[in-house]
Amino acid sequence: MSSTTSTASFPHTNPWNPPRVSGGLPGIGHLVDFVRDVTGLMRRARAECGDIAGLRVGNKDMILFTGPRAQERYFRASDDVFSQREAYQMMVPVFGQGVVYDATPERMNEQLKLLLLALQGPRMKHYAPIFTEEVERSVADWGESGVVDFYDFTQKLTGYTSTHCFFGAEFRHEMTDEFSAVYHDLERSIIPLAYINPNLPIPTFRARDRARNKLGSMIEDLLARRRAAGTGGTDLFQTLMDASYSDGTRLSPHEITGMLVATMFAGHHTSSVTAAWTMIELLQHPHEMQRVVDELDTKLGDRPLDYRALRDIEVTDRAIREALRIHPPLYMLAREVLQDYNTDGFVIPKGAWVLASPLIGHEIETVFANATQFDPDRLAEPRREDACPYSYISFGAGRHKCMGNNFALLQIKAIFATLLRKYTFELYGDPIRTDFGGMVAGPEQPCRVRYRVRR
Ligand code: HEM
Repeated sequence: MSSTTSTASFPHTNPWNPPRVSGGLPGIGHLVDFVRDVTGLMRRARAECGDIAGLRVGNKDMILFTGPRAQERYFRASDDVFSQREAYQMMVPVFGQGVVYDATPERMNEQLKLLLLALQGPRMKHYAPIFTEEVERSVADWGESGVVDFYDFTQKLTGYTSTHCFFGAEFRHEMTDEFSAVYHDLERSIIPLAYINPNLPIPTFRARDRARNKLGSMIEDLLARRRAAGTGGTDLFQTLMDASYSDGTRLSPHEITGMLVATMFAGHHTSSVTAAWTMIELLQHPHEMQRVVDELDTKLGDRPLDYRALRDIEVTDRAIREALRIHPPLYMLAREVLQDYNTDGFVIPKGAWVLASPLIGHEIETVFANATQFDPDRLAEPRREDACPYSYISFGAGRHKCMGNNFALLQIKAIFATLLRKYTFELYGDPIRTDFGGMVAGPEQPCRVRYRVRR
């Protein structure tokens, strides 16, 4: 495992700053590469400079931390040193004022902790049948054979599942079209311009603000209905309705709406991308697909796909986590440096951004042998290449590690257990590349597969 920071001498602003990757232009630094090919730029930065590598994007210093040792520092730094809030300000108009990245650090942590109530333990048992039910419903009109864009399919499917588990059955069954429209306008507002100024008076941002208000009213109506009827659901919405902060105050409808949207944003596309890549990798590696199918046939047979059944399928679990290693949907994470930070003889100045990249971190050959090869057994004993702390970071790590990882894995296992019980699949069309155009990297479309009912 690589643990040293290269001190290769590339141009940098002062001798205490980390080495900077070559190729910057006067005034704009690496801005063009950052916009056109950020993954190529990060790869080059690591190759030239090592574990702690400098970039200059416009007028901003950015420092990329890669490799387990540097990643450990990144993820263990406290919020008052490396802060997410400043780096994710473009989410504030979507989530709402006072919610998550616009709340004080203490309030933000309290809000995030509330999510745990709905994402752990007993609640998973309740979600498992919903996952299966939603897959069954999504393939109800598939017939004997056909071709689908599998990424389209997983986006719709995980959209329904997330709506069902987070917003509740009423949203899922009674407000599907209304909800899809507002959610679409919220999602469409996450464009590069939003990083620069999310409040510019442009139509996309106006549509976002209208959608956020509309969703707030929908939540208020439903809240009143639930309170009047005295009935609750077993969903995140109800958890947030019943919750209170440590000072005893209840969450306002505005905060409940924001938390629901934040959870949807965190969990929806990340899960749909992962399900799609798992399918693509398994179809490109028929031997691995056969192992998954054998496991599902042997361990599950015709059993109901409940929580226990889904929890115990480890070959499938490893295939998903290996797809996630090669194709981490959140391929670049960011924080702003709130106070000068010393590491490895360098000073990272206040105001710089620090980046971590699950994508680049997972390509390090000394950690993951033949890193670009899809090889789920690398995650099994005796190899356990992910056992080195802070090496496997698809779900982040440390204090802000993903809270929905169990939810996501269970959901994706339910998708495969249900689909592979009924159908065989094959790739249909050209090889599929990754689209790094958005915050979440997914397969380029079309991403077609052919299915046939299993004999
Ligand atoms: C395969 C699917 C998923 C992937 C790859 C993923 C990845 C990540 C990563 C990398 C982070 C850390 C971000 C950072 O450090 O800046 C994160 C945080 C988070 N994720 Fe996920 N996620 C997934 C699914 C979900 C789901 C389904 C939910 C909710 C149901 C969720 C909720 C969260 C939350 C609330 C955080 C913030 C934790 C904090 O800041 O304390 N994620 N996720």
